[in-house]
Amino acid sequence: MSTNAHEKVEKNVGLMAMLIAVAVSFGGLAEIVPLMNQAEAIKPLPGVKPYPALQLAGRDVYIREGCYNCHSQMVRTLRFETERYGHYSLAGESVYDHPFQWGSKRTGPDLARVGGRYSDDWHRVHLNQPRDVVPESNMPGFPWLAQNDVDGETITTHMKALRAIGDPYTDADIAGAAKAVEGKTELDAVIAYLQDLGRHAPRGG
Ligand code: HEC
Repeated sequence: MSTNAHEKVEKNVGLMAMLIAVAVSFGGLAEIVPLMNQAEAIKPLPGVKPYPALQLAGRDVYIREGCYNCHSQMVRTLRFETERYGHYSLAGESVYDHPFQWGSKRTGPDLARVGGRYSDDWHRVHLNQPRDVVPESNMPGFPWLAQNDVDGETITTHMKALRAIGDPYTDADIAGAAKAVEGKTELDAVIAYLQDLGRHAPRGG
């Protein structure tokens, strides 16, 4: 660049601001565009399917009750994490999570690998009154979950909405949703959800 052109840019604030904006956008694009392509390439891990009706209902309860305020679902790639929880989290596990529940706030333990760690009965007691099984727990109880029935119509609509944004639910999945949650309580649903968390993750640390 000739001295003149350089001088022009240095002495003209408007022009300089514009050129800075162009330079910064190039930097931004260089970071963002490859990520967008990578997101395209991320496929569900083997066995990861859209949530069945009951688990989806449980996930809705999990979000409604704000469980994510105290629990993350993201095992980091650090040794003390993988030794405690199991294999670190992979993007292919959460392709059908809208929105994902990764989080970072851990008042309680990470739940990404909690599926199968306890029995359904343990969860039943724990969710009703955590201190009945973990005396030092400061997790609140959620006794109303056992009294609320899962609404078949809501879950059918939810599955249709998820299909509209690309989740591969079949007509049969949607037609059978109301039946699948018939007679189930929100407690059954949230336990079904918890018991499946991390089931499709690779084993070991
Ligand atoms: C105010 C914070 C808080 C909220 C909200 C909360 N928890 Fe917890 N949770 C904890 C703490 C602390 C522990 C560890 C003590 C215990 O096991 O009770 C825990 C433990 C757990 C465990 C056992 C995890 C393990 O690996 O031992 C499960 C499962 C769980 N919570 C599920 C839930 C669900 C489901 C919800 C929402 C319905 C919820 N929690 C809401 C704080 C919370």
